[in-house]
Amino acid sequence: MREKPDHYAIAAKQQGYLARSVFKLEELDHRFHLTTDARAVLDLGAAPGSWAQYVLRTRPSARVVAVDVAPLRLPEDTPNLTVLMDDIFKPELHEQLVGYGPYDLVLSDAAPPTTGNRGLDSARSAALAEMVIELARRTLTANGRLVVKVFQGGEERHLLQHMRKDFRRARACKPRACRKDSFETYLLGFR
Ligand SMILES: C[S@@+](CC[C@H](N)C(=O)[O-])C[C@H]1O[C@@H](n2cnc3c(N)ncnc32)[C@H](O)[C@@H]1O
Repeated sequence: MREKPDHYAIAAKQQGYLARSVFKLEELDHRFHLTTDARAVLDLGAAPGSWAQYVLRTRPSARVVAVDVAPLRLPEDTPNLTVLMDDIFKPELHEQLVGYGPYDLVLSDAAPPTTGNRGLDSARSAALAEMVIELARRTLTANGRLVVKVFQGGEERHLLQHMRKDFRRARACKPRACRKDSFETYLLGFR
């Protein structure tokens, strides 16, 4: 059963954001200046759309390409927003995203549906993160930044090592807005 609305869920509603997860991105942005000078942003696992909303509000001249298997809950005619309803694992999507790029910032809050089997859920999340890292490698600008969610379960160290091959700096950070019982964290890469 879902927890009752907390401080972040109430604040998201009050500020017109589609999800409380916006405050995870806001905190990461305040700490690491992710959206500074970002003109093109790729948002993977974007539904319902609060991260895209945040970027479009804080960087009104930036364009956002948002991808999810589920529909976003943002109007189709939202200025500067392109929505692709597709699966991150599809190679044809990657070619399309290269065409829309390059991006100053690649964001991924994508998460697999959870089964309750922590080992399985973490492995699926790590596979998603690996795909995102590969996509970021292909589509980021020379000074680009990456944020990718991963469920903690042992793979994050391996993923960070993998990122360090292509990013000047890579680290993990768990924002305060992550729910207390959640085992997610975010990996950040700076080119
Ligand atoms: C936690 S939600 C993202 C919330 C979003 N950042 C926001 O603030 O509104 C995770 C999303 O990842 C998406 N997702 C999971 N696996 C995916 C895949 N293989 N391809 C595309 N989207 C995927 C889910 O459909 C879900 O909407």
